[in-house]
Amino acid sequence: MNTGNTRPADMQRIETPELAQKFIEQQIAALREQIGDKKVLLALSGGVDSSVVAALLIKAVGKQLVSVHVNHGLLRKGEPEEVIRVFRDELGANLVYVDATDRFLDKLAGVADPEQKRKIIGAEFIRVFEEEARKLEGISFLAQGTIYPDILESGPVKSHHNVGGLPEDLQFELVEPIKLLFKDEVRVVGKELGLPDNMVFRQPFPGPGLGVRCTGAITRDRLEALRESDAILREEFAKNGLAGKVWQYFTVVPDYKSTGVKDNKRSWDWPVIIRAVNTKDAMSATIEEIPYEILHHITKRIVTEVPGVNRVLYDLTPKPTGTIEWE
Ligand code: XMP
Repeated sequence: MNTGNTRPADMQRIETPELAQKFIEQQIAALREQIGDKKVLLALSGGVDSSVVAALLIKAVGKQLVSVHVNHGLLRKGEPEEVIRVFRDELGANLVYVDATDRFLDKLAGVADPEQKRKIIGAEFIRVFEEEARKLEGISFLAQGTIYPDILESGPVKSHHNVGGLPEDLQFELVEPIKLLFKDEVRVVGKELGLPDNMVFRQPFPGPGLGVRCTGAITRDRLEALRESDAILREEFAKNGLAGKVWQYFTVVPDYKSTGVKDNKRSWDWPVIIRAVNTKDAMSATIEEIPYEILHHITKRIVTEVPGVNRVLYDLTPKPTGTIEWE
């Protein structure tokens, strides 16, 4: 096993199922050797990196892996259920599911500043994970879905969902089986491990989740409008062949209302903003040209199916000048 943090110059790119299989076999052997009969802990978000690490470890050490899935209440519709279905029901993982929605939303109540929101979400995440780790006995290792770009850049983006900052007594030896892989290689490995396509090829999702798309101070009703409108957008993008074509797409629900008319009565409701961008590295981004027909259909569904919404807007701003997220 390569224990260093540098990708060897002669390391072959994992582009085929055969090479992915070879990688999986090598990693299983290396993980068994490193872990022996000890226990490993993993924060499983359901994103591609932590999911691939979980699937590798389940193959290597089975129930010695304890995965903790923290639902901070800012996940997309159906996400926690899917993590439970895939990992607990299908792969037989030793999975601890923590619904911490109330804790997070109570801490975030009335907080409008984006950086403050991010800080609260990050700190609370570590606190919840820490509490779960303390309840478990005999943990020796902490697994992480670090990938090669994280090592190359250690950028501020990834730091939000890494479990850094754990206290002294919870500093376990790290297990990082995909740390020398690039994202596309992680996906090939994930596919070979039998993970579902919507997990392996899923669009990037920020650590603070829907929290940065429910702008200003988060309220439960507006968060629900955001979750439902995002689910409609994702469903329609999948149906119309846009899901694999557009790099990132989501809805935003800002913290202001406008007048509308519904059932012959004036309404005072939120707008939903659609964002759909293409990019190579997230440093700059262009706007996807969505056919008007699809936009009309999505608009109709959102204003009829999502309570509290009376308008749908399409954000035409590239990055720069707009960032991809609204916060
Ligand atoms: P921006 O909005 O800066 O986003 O153009 C660029 C990319 O980074 C993601 N992003 C985040 N990811 N934690 C994350 O893990 C964050 O706080 C965060 N903020 C933005 C964003 O979704 C986009 O892909």
